[in-house]
Amino acid sequence: MKTINIAIDGPAGAGKSSIAKEISSELGFIYVDTGALYRTIALYAQMHELDDQSLIRQLDDIEIELNFIGGTQCISLNGENVTDDIRTPEISMGASSVSAIPEVREFLFELQQKMAREHNVIMDGRDIGTVVLPDADLKIFLTASADERASRRYLELQEKDDCPTYEEIRADIIARDYNDTHRAIAPLKQAEDAVLIDSTDMGFHEVCEEILSLIRTRLDLDE
Ligand code: DC
Repeated sequence: MKTINIAIDGPAGAGKSSIAKEISSELGFIYVDTGALYRTIALYAQMHELDDQSLIRQLDDIEIELNFIGGTQCISLNGENVTDDIRTPEISMGASSVSAIPEVREFLFELQQKMAREHNVIMDGRDIGTVVLPDADLKIFLTASADERASRRYLELQEKDDCPTYEEIRADIIARDYNDTHRAIAPLKQAEDAVLIDSTDMGFHEVCEEILSLIRTRLDLDE
């Protein structure tokens, strides 16, 4: 049976993951956070101190497994749960840099397509609507101003002991936006048939409602 695939792309900190998580739990779909895959490759490269060429040579030694526990994605690298280890600022930048390596993108491509073939998914990332799932049932391009994205991320991280400053978070977001939109392969861009949502002045629930309503209309689902 054909599965339902929803693609949500957009820049770092646009709220893709929290929104995708909420919507997928509402619809009973699986939420696939593809950024976590690139982060896991970056973690592997960091652990083994690999440059790009050595990483490419060692890709076959990397086994990534995604599991969904109560709708939450857990990710393991060669059998070890790395779900929390991949959420550091160094790994964010590392992921942005390994994601520009064509061999890395190719390596992760099949894993992402397999998830979408086997499950109803909301998949978020940078190239889901343009490259990974060009035939997705609905494509959303979710964005917000860099200032707004940095403030949201700052509020989110404030509770943590080693929270970066607002300026550091904003600089990281701008650097990643630049990397992700300027790389030669599968750069971050809005698919021609994607619906653009600029959430700068929108609340979390407002964005969720708008996307849910687009999904229901597109799929002809009842409220
Ligand atoms: O969504 P995220 O911030 O966890 O993603 C981390 C990095 O991974 C991001 O800066 C670029 C890369 N990425 C990508 O190139 N393609 C995707 N589909 C998802 C993430």
